[in-house]
Amino acid sequence: MSDWQTRQGRLYLQDTPVATIAEQSGTPLYVYDGTIIQDRVNRIQQAFPIFNILYSVKANANLAVAALIRQQGIGVEVASEGELETAFQAGFTPDQMSFAGPGKSHAELARAVDSGIDLISVESSAELARLTKLAQTAGRKVSVLARVNIAEHALQAQEKMGGRPSQFGIDVEHVIEVLRQHKSEWITYRGIHVYAGSQILSSDALIKHFSAIYSLAIHIAHQVGFELACVNFGGGFGIPYHTQEQHLDIAEAGRQICHKLQHSGIELFLELGRYFVAESGIFLTRVEYVKQSKGINYVITNGGINAFARSAMPWANTHRCESVTGRDQTPTDHYTVTGPLCLPADILAESVPLAHPVPGDILVIRDVGAYGYSMSPQLFLSHTAPAEVLYWNQSCHVIREPHNIQTVLAGQHIPAGLL
Ligand SMILES: Cc1ncc(COP(=O)(O)O)c(C=O)c1O
Repeated sequence: MSDWQTRQGRLYLQDTPVATIAEQSGTPLYVYDGTIIQDRVNRIQQAFPIFNILYSVKANANLAVAALIRQQGIGVEVASEGELETAFQAGFTPDQMSFAGPGKSHAELARAVDSGIDLISVESSAELARLTKLAQTAGRKVSVLARVNIAEHALQAQEKMGGRPSQFGIDVEHVIEVLRQHKSEWITYRGIHVYAGSQILSSDALIKHFSAIYSLAIHIAHQVGFELACVNFGGGFGIPYHTQEQHLDIAEAGRQICHKLQHSGIELFLELGRYFVAESGIFLTRVEYVKQSKGINYVITNGGINAFARSAMPWANTHRCESVTGRDQTPTDHYTVTGPLCLPADILAESVPLAHPVPGDILVIRDVGAYGYSMSPQLFLSHTAPAEVLYWNQSCHVIREPHNIQTVLAGQHIPAGLL
């Protein structure tokens, strides 16, 4: 499966060399191929026909990307007010939305209740209490999923978020007691939600994981005494960041999971981010300097971890990095590729084989469509950037106004035909 084509040492986006796009739009630059996104969404729709599929907008919160995905007929999972607004502007309706996240504010929950969002996942006893009050004040019964932090088991996720102490979800050891405690005329328990980790590459692990979640949901509903109407199985489907890794066998995982759940009689949800968008994106950065320091070759570029933070995350995969100059690409040596920041962690890739990089060359970092732009210091989850205050001359000065949601959305354009 090769989405991006390299011809004579040049990487192409369809028929255009990506270096030409970099010349036109400047660097650093994110470029996404929408056809790859459409392909990944199609694959999931075909493999999991009995599921309602949601896009986790945190993976890539660009309005046009979200609108492109919505156009393929899937819903959306949001985790902040900024993402909620993004989803609305990309054309999603409340009945297509799920709201998760461990830190929903009073205002965010109120907005979710007022908008009539279809699925609200509660992640703690305190959140359930807050939501109950809000529902009572609004005079509106709210249905919820309990997000469960499962026990450690066979989940082979490279980036784990559950199965251990965590801010996400209600621990499986306490969830029955918490749900019993908060039974009220204002809350309907609709089912459970589990999202335990990301970057799962084993279809076997996925099949076992889904089966365990389903059994757990039945058990919890029975013990608490509600009718199980729905299970959100989360997502976490991985992509091969390295050449040694294999694609997840989606067709096989989908076949076995759907076979097991086809007569469950409940609504089934999947929420995916990385799988839909990661491989569609590349990050282009221009070489400013090449130098040696104490035996290591450095290529210093104009795109740092402020624009692509994933490369500095200790748990994240190293992304493939290559030159797209069109010159002979036979590597001459290994190079550490950095950004321009005054920060030792500003490393985009280490020990990359490159062919004589020179200033002006364009380097490409692959598979950045998910958690690339969106996870870089500003705007992750479409949160607004905070204000900055300086104490000077015996008083406090606001030296940067906080952004607002308009700032987050400003400058983005949805191409004609997507909305
Ligand atoms: C609750 C929830 N659902 C879905 C996702 C998307 O995960 P992935 O990109 O691994 O599919 C995340 C990612 O953090 C998440 O927190």
